[in-house]
Amino acid sequence: MMAARLEHVAIIMDGNGRWAQLRNKPRTYGHIKGARVAKKIITHAANAGLKNLTLYAFSTENWLRPHEEVSFLMLLLNRYLRKETDNLVKKNIRFDVIGEITKLPKDIQQAIENTKKLTARNTGLYLTFAISYGSRQEILLAVQNIAEKFKNNEIDKNQITESLMTSHLMTSQIPDPDLIIRTSGETRLSNFMMWQASYSELYFSETLWPDFTEIHFDRCCQNYFQRERRYGRVIGKNEESFV
Ligand code: FPP
Repeated sequence: MMAARLEHVAIIMDGNGRWAQLRNKPRTYGHIKGARVAKKIITHAANAGLKNLTLYAFSTENWLRPHEEVSFLMLLLNRYLRKETDNLVKKNIRFDVIGEITKLPKDIQQAIENTKKLTARNTGLYLTFAISYGSRQEILLAVQNIAEKFKNNEIDKNQITESLMTSHLMTSQIPDPDLIIRTSGETRLSNFMMWQASYSELYFSETLWPDFTEIHFDRCCQNYFQRERRYGRVIGKNEESFV
């Protein structure tokens, strides 16, 4: 039977705005709670011994939101990085980002570089924030880089393989997600890791992100292991029928 393995969980944290609106509060209130939940889930995943956690914090499309909301999300990110870096270091968490980071305000770019540098030698959870990230843009960038190498005769056409493509994506340091969770009842990938998600299990939770807890996270993981086990039994049966 295939051994169940869960090395990489990625989360599309959705529903902050709706959570706040249900309480007659501004959307920013939902983002504050959402950031707290992100912090808790990161700690929980690290303590549980997960190898990779990726959080979709800001998409390329999110730039189209009202200016005040975008600035607020940037402020939250900046605050998170400045306040949490020491904790990440202590907890042996390595921090990384994927996305078009050069589009971010300079102070955030610096904060990101600083946190990356200070956690670079950590060997526990590999935590990736997707910020100003879009999967189509990522794929286009990879294709442009590969085209450049082809033009310069550095590679042949038949060297353009899946593994070459994978190595040119922003996620080249991490394995494909085994499990992608999206909260708030939306059932879309929304331009998130479309190449990497080819074989990922998808879990759509009705819970709004600010209400998401460690218990919900564990439930998603348990559900993943159940699916894996079923898959194992089917393989087992097929193998027997060949005998
Ligand atoms: C989706 O909710 C959430 C976002 C666009 C931002 C995610 C950001 C955070 C959780 C906070 C920042 C994180 C850290 C760790 C500093 P939504 O606004 O799309 O909600 P809605 O669909 O209900 O409108």
